Amino acid sequence: MVGKKKPLVVITRKLPDPVETRMRELFDARLNVEDRPMTQPELVAAVKEADVLVPTVTDNIDAALIAQAGDNLKLIANFGNGVDKIDVAAAAKKGITVTNTPNVLTEDTADMTMALMLAVPRRLAEGANVLTGDKKWAGWSPTWMLGRRIWGKRLGIVGMGRIGTAVARRAKAFGLSIHYHNRHRVLPAVEDGLEATYWESLDQMLARMDIISVNCPSTPATFHLLSARRLALLQPTAYVVNTARGDIIDEEALVKLIQDGKIAGAGLDVYEHEPALNAKLLRLAAKNKVVLLPHMGSATLEGRIDMGEKVIINIRAFVDGHRPPDRVLPLRT
Ligand code: 8YV
Repeated sequence: MVGKKKPLVVITRKLPDPVETRMRELFDARLNVEDRPMTQPELVAAVKEADVLVPTVTDNIDAALIAQAGDNLKLIANFGNGVDKIDVAAAAKKGITVTNTPNVLTEDTADMTMALMLAVPRRLAEGANVLTGDKKWAGWSPTWMLGRRIWGKRLGIVGMGRIGTAVARRAKAFGLSIHYHNRHRVLPAVEDGLEATYWESLDQMLARMDIISVNCPSTPATFHLLSARRLALLQPTAYVVNTARGDIIDEEALVKLIQDGKIAGAGLDVYEHEPALNAKLLRLAAKNKVVLLPHMGSATLEGRIDMGEKVIINIRAFVDGHRPPDRVLPLRT
């Protein structure tokens, strides 16, 4: 594919206009201006033809699909950070490079994590709902709409990577004390700056926190990391926030514990079977026990343009014969 001919780049979803314009200038870009999610047969057709595939979290780029890729397909340049929907090992085996878009969505996702951290304890959605439509507000009262205080509480971050650290910085400024569990302890300078406490044992951390924020990637090792057993360790006053991936939490178990009053509530942006939503979660939302967002963590115009630019840089570097900056390697098992 290196040569004069522009590479055929198939982009599975609509991207922000400036990104699509630039892609059309640089590549033989096949856009999805209608933004209709591609079916699996459409994806098969795409990988048979394309030099580069630009998928998103809504596409299932599994081993079966990769096996059907044409010889031209040499790069999967993911529009997104998480590569849990891409079988990176199968791609590597077939000589296909995978890239992602780290860094540029860190701060936006951390902002949304803070919003969800406040949402249930401070009753944001519930309060906003009082002032919508034709409802009449009876006025202020000293004992009405009382939530739970955030500052001074303990936050336990599961996964202290880029986003986890950005959440910690914000949460520290909100007056929360920072605790974390991670595969590796972070650098002493980072820990000191955040006054963060490292918990080698996730179980022990879970049992002592007021809020848990899930910020690790979805991998086979983190599937149901917050299992029914672990969730049962949480205090009944604790809240769970997840802006990472739904399958890191056993969603059924979370629902049951919230229903039974054994966990105070949750702020969720991601779901185990998204876009399908557990009906029980929706019922908990109606009771203001959870606040649910539709996978909006990184959804800012600026962020999505930055992500698109990263995709373009990765494709260009690759096409020019260089190692793309955001290459993703298969997980070591
Ligand atoms: C993106 C995300 O919206 O980048 C990620 O991993 O979860 C999201 O914030 C999505 O992945 C775009 O493909």
